[in-house]
Amino acid sequence: MNSTFDKPVKAIILYDSQSVGGSTDRLIDSIGKKLAESGAYVEKARCKANGDFSFVSEFDLVLLGAPIYYLLVASQLSGALSQSNLRTALKGKKVALFVICGSPEPMAQLLYLPQIKMNLDNPVILAEKVFPPGKTGDLQTIAAFVDSIVAAYGKAN
Ligand SMILES: Cc1cc2nc3c(=O)[nH]c(=O)nc-3n(C[C@H](O)[C@H](O)[C@H](O)COP(=O)(O)O)c2cc1C
Repeated sequence: MNSTFDKPVKAIILYDSQSVGGSTDRLIDSIGKKLAESGAYVEKARCKANGDFSFVSEFDLVLLGAPIYYLLVASQLSGALSQSNLRTALKGKKVALFVICGSPEPMAQLLYLPQIKMNLDNPVILAEKVFPPGKTGDLQTIAAFVDSIVAAYGKAN
């Protein structure tokens, strides 16, 4: 069963990928669809390291996600977090984090999610998820991730 938000929620998925139409694009569309089924208004935006992220203030919920290339979170998302006003824009925001990778989940939790978290300044982290090989298209895994976000969002209010 789908969990639903108990009030209107504007969500944005900020992401990066070196590919177009690859596993990240497909995963983001599936996450966005599930969030919309849970009652959220959803937008998505590809990050630019030198972008202006002041628009993030319009959103109640921000998902940050990117694949791993050569042991590092994709450069436009990690660059945006370290170089632009994204870090400030996320201060105090409700966020959910995910990475997409070719490594097993425990290794990715140790090596990759911290690369995003170390560049955040006091957000409210509702959920974090590693999508290892074979899970980026797994609708049950995606639904469970979105349900965990919806449940934590309700508790954080
Ligand atoms: C050039 C390249 C380097 C990669 N390096 C890593 C890595 O260091 N660690 C890892 O866990 N996965 C690595 N991967 C796997 C990707 O994170 C994974 O395939 C992801 O789904 C790619 O997303 P995309 O289809 O949106 O490009 C690499 C993939 C590519 C193509």
